[in-house]
Amino acid sequence: MQILDGKKTANDIKKEIAIEVIALIKSGEKKPHLAAILVGSDGASETYVNAKVKACEKVGFNSSLVRFDSDVSEEELLAEINKINNNADIDGLIVQLPLPNHIDEMKVTETIFPSKDVDGFHPENIGRMALNLPTYLPATPAGILELLQRYHIETSGKHCVVVGRSNIVGLPMSILMAQKSYPGNCTVTLTHSRTQNLNEITKTADILIVALGKAEFVTADMLKEGVVIVDVGITRVKSEKTKSGWKLLGDVNFDSVKDKCSFITPVPGGVGPMTIAMLLKNTLISAKSKS
Ligand code: GUN
Repeated sequence: MQILDGKKTANDIKKEIAIEVIALIKSGEKKPHLAAILVGSDGASETYVNAKVKACEKVGFNSSLVRFDSDVSEEELLAEINKINNNADIDGLIVQLPLPNHIDEMKVTETIFPSKDVDGFHPENIGRMALNLPTYLPATPAGILELLQRYHIETSGKHCVVVGRSNIVGLPMSILMAQKSYPGNCTVTLTHSRTQNLNEITKTADILIVALGKAEFVTADMLKEGVVIVDVGITRVKSEKTKSGWKLLGDVNFDSVKDKCSFITPVPGGVGPMTIAMLLKNTLISAKSKS
């Protein structure tokens, strides 16, 4: 079994981006600028947004973090998005999800200008992605493709099983793995909570991408020998062994599957860092499109 090392690969990508930022500035352009909006104080969302802001610093981007209390009105949030949409200094805008129940997430997503939607969540960008037109790919699926590519994983003609149909990961991932490209050209099965005989399907997977948010759900008995596993899950559970009092678990039971798979992304240090690296890449693309 070989580890698909997302942490190392993400660091390689960040170094490549940092070099491009230096070249941009040398040619008289401004620094790329990512704005993030965080609503409320959910622990996991705070961690992710802080990691995104820190990553901006590391590659030489400017970043702005706008925070709202969880009782902010939808109107006030949309007004801030419009302000950032019209700020020429800002290249990319993300609104960290999930949002409180009283705010319509799709309305928020649709308000972000597609040209600044570096998360790749806007319906226009999802449509362009589905048609294989140039766009911002959603960061997590893009990070998975990049990881498969950099480790030269064979995908053509393989059976790729995706577990979970979220708009952010499962759905776009299934579209991208079926596309006529590399990585891609897979026969794809998209499974979800209503799927019957899930184990029978996962047992036929050459590539298994799991994004359902259930800690350690996948075990060895669900797999074919030699499968490539991409684990998108990150569930925070209490732990007495860590300084923070938390530890992160994937959707795959690593110890159970490690001798049966050929490649696997660890949690942490797999897909998570790649998501951030691809968000930076999208922001750089946006900045360069104006230079
Ligand atoms: N919540 C979980 N993943 C993501 C992501 O990639 N982007 C945003 N904006 N929110 C998220």
